Amino acid sequence: MSTNSTKNKKNNPLGLSQTIIDANQTISKIFLEVQDVAKNSSNLPAINEIINEGIKEVQATTKATENIATVNKVLNARLNELRNSTKDITDHVQVQTKGIRDFALHVDSITSRFDALRQSIMNTSKYIEALQNVHDEITLEQFRVNHLGKKGDISLELRKLGAMDPNQRKEIAPLLNGLKGDINQAISQKKQELFEKALEEQLQQEWLDVTLPGRARRQGTIHPVSQTIDQAVAIFSDMGFSYAEGPQVETDWYNFDALNIPPEHPARQEHDTFFVKSDTNEDKSPNVLRTHTSPVQIRSMTRQGVPIRIIAPGRVYRCDYDQTHTPMFHQIEGLAIDKNLNMAHLKWTLEEFCRTFFEVDNAELRFRASHFPFTEPSAEVDIRCSWEKGQLKIGEGSDWLEILGCGMVHPNVLTACGVDKTQYQGFAFGMGLDRIAMLKYGIPDLRSFFESDIRWLRHYGFLPVDVPSLHSGLSL
Ligand code: DAH
Repeated sequence: MSTNSTKNKKNNPLGLSQTIIDANQTISKIFLEVQDVAKNSSNLPAINEIINEGIKEVQATTKATENIATVNKVLNARLNELRNSTKDITDHVQVQTKGIRDFALHVDSITSRFDALRQSIMNTSKYIEALQNVHDEITLEQFRVNHLGKKGDISLELRKLGAMDPNQRKEIAPLLNGLKGDINQAISQKKQELFEKALEEQLQQEWLDVTLPGRARRQGTIHPVSQTIDQAVAIFSDMGFSYAEGPQVETDWYNFDALNIPPEHPARQEHDTFFVKSDTNEDKSPNVLRTHTSPVQIRSMTRQGVPIRIIAPGRVYRCDYDQTHTPMFHQIEGLAIDKNLNMAHLKWTLEEFCRTFFEVDNAELRFRASHFPFTEPSAEVDIRCSWEKGQLKIGEGSDWLEILGCGMVHPNVLTACGVDKTQYQGFAFGMGLDRIAMLKYGIPDLRSFFESDIRWLRHYGFLPVDVPSLHSGLSL
């Protein structure tokens, strides 16, 4: 025991028992372990403090007493304390580790979001780069359909959102929608660029010389016959005649019978009549193309009764063709029935008309006795004129040109129209409109009136604004 104690005193200046030394060693070892564990903890200073205090206390206790029982008690208490403190540390470390793991997960998710964002930015730039190669509207539309159209790649991706895990959707949806918005915007921008480019190109190519004179537009002209009809109507209207019309396909009763031209009358042959075949009833007297405007006298008197004053311009037809005859030509019919009308009224009416129409104050008429079945007495009227150097002049010279037929209406005609011939009488006249147009405007050939030659019409035609009226003067 003494040997032991001497030997121990060298290494053990305090003279501690072996048990305490061992305990101290064990404690130190445990402290080291604790330290090791606590190294990773942010609570390290506190742990260290506990351990140091523990060491100090163990040392103080061992120094103060040799009592093994007390030492053991102290040691056990210390060890428990240490164990507890180690448990705290472990718990703490575990909590920290979980925190770190969570943090790492968080970092992972941020990283993956950054990755997705980077990817989407790359995608956007990929689309925008592709858009740079688009140079026309059609390709641009194709681009839009390819990406944003119903089956476009982005639309298909957007459609997948519905099936996604909500967290994932939360991250992806804004990215996809953002991408869609960016592409849409890029497309509109491109559209605008293309439009401006096209406009620019157009402006470069096209230019307008605003100093060039306008292109004259050809204006239509009024046919001389139409102009003549308008003039005649204006003149007779001013004298109190009304305008009347009748059909161009006429029954032979109106065209002949009622006008005192019975079937056997030679005048029928003279009229070179065009007959119109009736396909309903062969026995019925045939229709004709009216050979003169005189049937309008009958129609007007029958319909309207008397007294009456009418003029009836229109087309008539005869089977004839030479320089002065065409199968269709124009007449103007005049009729005046009243109680006291006589040849003087007829003469004044026609003279007044010719003066106004030919615009010659001294237009002189010559009445030659003639025969028409529907008038008694009848006359043909010539107008005084001269031909000088191929120029026709009305109202002077020693030539006479026939212009119309006229007379006092035959009693048979009045009767045919139901007019009392003992009470009423009157005059009628029929004038060739083409003929007086030729005379007035110096047109040599009747046929040219109806050949529809636009050059002829341009030469002889009248501007639509030259509307004849007595008020403003017949010819402007
Ligand atoms: N109808 C006659 C013809 O075509 C013209 C004519 C003559 C008409 C005498 C008349 C008239 O009204 O009284 O030849």
